[in-house]
Amino acid sequence: MSSTLPPPDQPPEDVESDDCLPAYTYLYSPTLLQGRVAFITGGGSGIGFRIAEIFMRHGCDTIIVSRNIQRVTEAAEKLRGATGRHCLPLTADVRQPQTLTDAVEEALRTFSRIDILVNNAAGNFLCPASSLSCNAFKNVLDIDTMGTFNASKILYERYFRDHGGVILNITATLSYKGSVLQVHAGSAKAAIDAMTKHLAVEWGPCKVRVNGIAPGPIGGTEGMRRLGGAAAESIGMWDTIPLQRLGNKTEVAHGALFLVSPLASYVTGTTLVMDGGSWMTLPNHMASVLDRWSSEMRKSK
Ligand code: NAP
Ligand code: COA
Repeated sequence: MSSTLPPPDQPPEDVESDDCLPAYTYLYSPTLLQGRVAFITGGGSGIGFRIAEIFMRHGCDTIIVSRNIQRVTEAAEKLRGATGRHCLPLTADVRQPQTLTDAVEEALRTFSRIDILVNNAAGNFLCPASSLSCNAFKNVLDIDTMGTFNASKILYERYFRDHGGVILNITATLSYKGSVLQVHAGSAKAAIDAMTKHLAVEWGPCKVRVNGIAPGPIGGTEGMRRLGGAAAESIGMWDTIPLQRLGNKTEVAHGALFLVSPLASYVTGTTLVMDGGSWMTLPNHMASVLDRWSSEMRKSK
């Protein structure tokens, strides 16, 4: 008997831009996150925006936070329109704890609860270690690593310690084999993977689960644009990935949905790699990536 079922790596619907999906097919119950509230850093764009959308399509209200109030305000309008759920846009810089505290207080005044924190905000660019200033290295660690700690600690003290909660850290596979031109982001994300385990151990008794997702190359994102996605595509590099394609934002959001939901009630301290197997096989060629970086540097001058 021939099967008409889709293949097991069939990607769900996605759109490249920071817009909501024109159509959505439910794989899980639409009420999976009913009544929950999620605080998502960097929720105004890319992967964070799609995570907000998928959570909201499953009954969750959200707070989306970034430095640029116009970006999160416009994103919140789209998210409300597509899902009918509440979305509160707030401004905060994850490097500045007081701005996060203010945002958390505002969120609690509005929703009276926060169940989920997604640490998604990050900064990255290609740069060889020899050209990277000490301040540039520190800056990326401040956004990614300190930002994740700041938000986690503030949410824990203000709400999770007494009510339980779920933390999800978005990291990367860059450190797994020492990706070239990525010492800053690779080091920052590796520290977050360690933090996931430390906080899972310390905060588990307070009913706080802490997990991570390490995405591979994901289409329609700023990360992909900054890290040479177009050049990689033009030389057919995605064919070297075991699943032979880029991931999409909805796929990452589905992993996030699983990890923050009751489906993952006994999962804590783990980082789910969602990369089509790419970290094991994508080439890590210093010479070709340096060439690409040098030509982009020349163009930007
Ligand atoms: P993105 O759209 O640029 O998302 C980053 C978000 O973080 C932006 O909305 C940005 O908003 C916010 N942000 C940056 N600095 C901030 C700060 N100091 N305080 C508060 N918010 C800040 O990029 P993306 O590609 O979707 O990446 C999302 C996450 O996935 C990141 O953690 C990234 O490392 C991870 N990741 C992405 C890929 C990929 O292929 N794209 C692969 C692996 C991992 P403002 O500028 O308005 O502040
Ligand atoms: N290559 C090398 N160094 C760079 C750089 C690049 N492309 N971009 C910035 N830097 C350096 C700066 O020169 C500065 O160092 P210096 O003081 O020694 O000169 C340091 O990094 C901080 O730069 P600044 O522009 O002040 O940082 P910022 O806080 O305004 O912005 C960034 C942070 C640089 C990470 C910025 O790219 C950003 O906001 N990114 C968010 C979006 C993003 O990266 N998305 C992809 C996520 S994967």
